[in-house]
Amino acid sequence: MGIYALTGAATGIGAALSRQLREAGNDTIVVDVKAEDADIVADLSTAAGRKSAVEGIQARAPEGLDGFVPLAGLGGHVTPPSLIARLNYFGAIACVEGVRDLVARRQGAVVLISSNSAPGLGVNEEYLGLLAAGEESAACELIDTLNSALAYAGSKLAIARWMRHHVTEYAKCGIRLNAVAPGVTRTPMTDAVYENPQVREAMLAYVASIPVERTAAPEEIANAIRFLLGPEASFVCGSVLFVDGGQDASQRPDQM
Ligand SMILES: NC(=O)c1ccc[n+]([C@@H]2O[C@H](COP(=O)([O-])OP(=O)(O)OC[C@H]3O[C@@H](n4cnc5c(N)ncnc54)[C@H](O)[C@@H]3O)[C@@H](O)[C@H]2O)c1
Repeated sequence: MGIYALTGAATGIGAALSRQLREAGNDTIVVDVKAEDADIVADLSTAAGRKSAVEGIQARAPEGLDGFVPLAGLGGHVTPPSLIARLNYFGAIACVEGVRDLVARRQGAVVLISSNSAPGLGVNEEYLGLLAAGEESAACELIDTLNSALAYAGSKLAIARWMRHHVTEYAKCGIRLNAVAPGVTRTPMTDAVYENPQVREAMLAYVASIPVERTAAPEEIANAIRFLLGPEASFVCGSVLFVDGGQDASQRPDQM
């Protein structure tokens, strides 16, 4: 059986994935800012937290990792917007790069977490350019003059772009890089959005447009991530898998 490291797995999709991997007989290493249910407590919005997370994973998996999934993220309702950029993009990428040698050692897989809402919430190319260039301070300064929805959408679009730009480099080390783009999933993140009167109506309208007429359970997203991590996805590399009840296809039918 394998050994997998996950960030942001104290609740929601990550907790479901961690449970499924353990039930299948694997070991998991969970990094989270919440102490309960975490093997390594770290705030991945900070450089110090990212460093201690990577060092903690290295200490617990000296023989390497079969897979890594950076799930830690904040929704587009959180302020300041720069916190979203720091965690969703810079935290995720720093951790992927930090554990790359460990995943290469076992010819494993990395699954990044994008979002089906990334293309629809608005795009600011200057912000995306700063994310891609790794300019954390400048990206944060810019996004704090804009808003959290743009911060979130940009962070998730940039994650998918980063994955596609790095697919060859990682494949040469024996690592398959892929991403999932979940649709609306019932987790503490979306509970917080429903409870926010400023965005609740927009969220309800968005949910009403899902072709299968329901939101996802966290386990349904975790199922797709497990597929991408596992041997049945051995030739799946560089894909963004939309797991969203048909919403992206229905809203952007001519894009692929
Ligand atoms: N729920 C959805 O509808 C949805 C849709 C698309 C994408 N996503 C993405 O899926 C991922 C998981 O989200 P979820 O819905 O399970 O949310 P969630 O809030 O249940 O989980 C997020 C996890 O990240 C952790 N976290 C928060 N701040 C952190 C920090 N500074 N350092 C380390 N850990 C931190 C939380 O403690 C939590 O365990 C996120 O990246 C999110 O953007 C979710």
